[in-house]
Amino acid sequence: MFNVIVKDTYEEVSAEAFKVMKGVLDSQKDPVLGLATGSSPVGLYQEMIKDHKENGTSYKNIITFNLDEYCGIPRDHEQSYWTFMHENLFNFIDCPEENIHVPQGNLADEEKAAADYEAALASHEVAIQVLGIGSDGHIAFNEPGCPFDSVTHIMPLTEQTRSDNARFFDGDINQVPKTAITQGLASIMRAKKIVLIATGANKAEAVKGMINGPKTTDCPASILQDHADVTVVLDKAAASLL
Ligand code: GLP
Repeated sequence: MFNVIVKDTYEEVSAEAFKVMKGVLDSQKDPVLGLATGSSPVGLYQEMIKDHKENGTSYKNIITFNLDEYCGIPRDHEQSYWTFMHENLFNFIDCPEENIHVPQGNLADEEKAAADYEAALASHEVAIQVLGIGSDGHIAFNEPGCPFDSVTHIMPLTEQTRSDNARFFDGDINQVPKTAITQGLASIMRAKKIVLIATGANKAEAVKGMINGPKTTDCPASILQDHADVTVVLDKAAASLL
């Protein structure tokens, strides 16, 4: 079930998403957090950092699981999702490094890396999963056509996604990795609560497919129609086709 909230600005969208996150942090002891990369959740992470600094909200005993990672680049690559999470959140809160889980995209045995990540994830209950959405309707790196029953796996990235993400790789699509390791759609669906953030007109079609479209692997995010508790926070442009 979707609870759709539409706000005017990115700051307001982030503040609204933070309210959902804070509700979980305040009502549960040490909830397991599912985290996402991309520009969409950056404002939410800034709110979490501010709350940690000003209100002392502690992440000392909190375990986190990220959604995905590029394959074939080292962890300390400036565009790895491991680096992104440290630069945008982990370096500024008190979550111990050993509690942080980001899939490893640079191991020789990728299938084993995926199976090991899924096993670790499955032994926890994610209280809240943060999501963005790709302009092709992907969540995490589950691209169109990815089965709804998928668990953590290696996914070839679409041309659309690689071109969307080229802006982080000197605008050069050839530098964007061709595959990623990602939680599957079934992995994501196990989270108790989901907060999905989308802003900008280039997300409007995907948001419409997710909420109003048929449930189809052509729009991977449409699987969320079956989830009991999804808050979708949008700006007006992303909501424009609803
Ligand atoms: C990437 C990530 C997704 C993210 C999406 C949208 O490809 N794998 O998890 O939701 O892109 O990114 P952005 O929020 O920057 O638009």
